[in-house]
Amino acid sequence: MLILGIESSCDDMAAAVVKDGRHILSNVVSSQDEIHYKYGGIVPELASRRHLETVIPVAEEALNQARVSINDIDAIGVTQGPGLVGSILVGLSFAKAVAYVKGMPFVGVNHIEAHPLSVFLTPTISPFTPNFPFIALVVSGGHTTLFKFKDFCDCEIVGQTRDDAAGEAFDKVAKLLGLGYPGGAVIDRLARSGNPSAIKFTRPYISKDTFDFSFSGIKTAVLNYLKDFGKGDYSTIINDLSAGFQEAVVDVLIDKALAACKANNIKDLSISGGVACNTRLREKLADKSRDNGIRLFLPEVKLCSDNGAMIAACAYHLLKKGGRGELDMNAMPSM
Ligand code: KG4
Ligand code: ZN
Repeated sequence: MLILGIESSCDDMAAAVVKDGRHILSNVVSSQDEIHYKYGGIVPELASRRHLETVIPVAEEALNQARVSINDIDAIGVTQGPGLVGSILVGLSFAKAVAYVKGMPFVGVNHIEAHPLSVFLTPTISPFTPNFPFIALVVSGGHTTLFKFKDFCDCEIVGQTRDDAAGEAFDKVAKLLGLGYPGGAVIDRLARSGNPSAIKFTRPYISKDTFDFSFSGIKTAVLNYLKDFGKGDYSTIINDLSAGFQEAVVDVLIDKALAACKANNIKDLSISGGVACNTRLREKLADKSRDNGIRLFLPEVKLCSDNGAMIAACAYHLLKKGGRGELDMNAMPSM
């Protein structure tokens, strides 16, 4: 079964062709970073306007790279939510139009529940896939959620952020440091030359009894540190500050994910979402998982951030379970 997956929930327009929910034939992403960079965050109106220009070329490129035509496609999977309503509507309207004209089924996908399915796509770093049930940590710009996946498209939330998402904390701290948007990858790069113990931040655990997260306090702690530092030149501290902040976020993500595995007596863990690109998180989580007898499933970096392949994979399983979208389907910004 060949599925065209369309993802437009935020500032990336992405399309992919995936065979049988597993084999990636193409995976095309058009980033808008250069548009939003100067505003220090995403401007929703600009994002949806740009999506209108890119949706058709990106979908055509995905078909071309997969060496198929739209007539070879069996169904379309499209992000229905959560995200920015204007952005979602562009991808959703495109999917509905193509499905209607070509007389093919389409299905709406929950973007956050699709992220963990990246580990079932080839190529992944590990040739193996997790056994159900497994714990999935999704760490992105808008979400920090721990799921227990009982089957494809059958999951429950074990823990989630009570305020900022982990990626949002990276982006806000990057903004405080004048590093532009999005800032996660820049902090990751600077932290590699810094000492994570030079400037220490309190780990925001909330309490040991919950798998929920809270990252707004650490952003304020960085702000207060900078206020105390005064108006001087940040360049002398920026690497250590990036490393200290990053280490605090990484430690909490790892401890909560491993604790969720232990509490549920589960040995398989996956991580996905843009923050799962973070070098320190990948290294430290791999080490700690090994130490704790947990099998870690880590998608390659390209499949951690937003992509159409994960949407196509999720759509495949939804369609197999009888899911079908209707033409009156609406975008669900807080799905
Ligand atoms: O999953 P994603 O591509 O889009 C959302 O659904 O939000 O995640 C984007 C987020 C941004 O906050 C970005 O700063 C963060 O992922 N990010 C990183 C890294 N690369 C991207 N955060 C930390 N380290 C990275 N290397
Ligand atoms: Zn995402």
